[in-house]
Amino acid sequence: MAERPYVIEPMISAKTIAARVEALARAITAAFAGTDKLVVVGLLRGSFIFIADLVRELDLPVEVDFLEASSYGNATESSREVRILKDLRGEIAGRDVLVVEDIVDTGHTLQHVRTLLLARGPKRLEVCALLDKPSRREVDIRATWTGFEICDAFVVGYGIDFAQRNRNLPYIGKVRFLDQGAP
Ligand code: IMP
Repeated sequence: MAERPYVIEPMISAKTIAARVEALARAITAAFAGTDKLVVVGLLRGSFIFIADLVRELDLPVEVDFLEASSYGNATESSREVRILKDLRGEIAGRDVLVVEDIVDTGHTLQHVRTLLLARGPKRLEVCALLDKPSRREVDIRATWTGFEICDAFVVGYGIDFAQRNRNLPYIGKVRFLDQGAP
């Protein structure tokens, strides 16, 4: 991809994220109280920092697993396909499962992953998404818990990338291009 000049405008500070992660973890801990073990499934790669912070705030026995899905548009955006690039290592049949996603955008990725995992017969499956862009939704799906609802902006940081860069920013920022057009 050709480098386009851009700046990152801070949107959600590290301190605000940390407070929200703590609150999400409290809600999740309460919802799964009494579980023998919660399988926390991080969707790679964007959720890697979020899941690391979230599991450390959960007061539950947890197992961590990862799934990598990649979505790509074909001729019609609304029939977007999702491929599984890396599947879970463990079994989830009969288990309590929490899927951790960085951003719910069109919703195709989450819908596909949810359908795939539900077919494996978990006892219970819930979703925690750090960010939600409801105005971009193409399929009717919502996370059980959402960190922040944001507008239709392209964001980076706290694990989220733009062309594999900026994942290591401790805060979430909005990409603003210095030339014309969107990413
Ligand atoms: P969806 O299938 O359209 O909901 O796509 C969700 C995935 O697209 C997220 O898990 C991200 O990896 C990626 N994505 C969506 N919006 C952004 C963004 O603003 N910045 C970086 N990645 C994004």
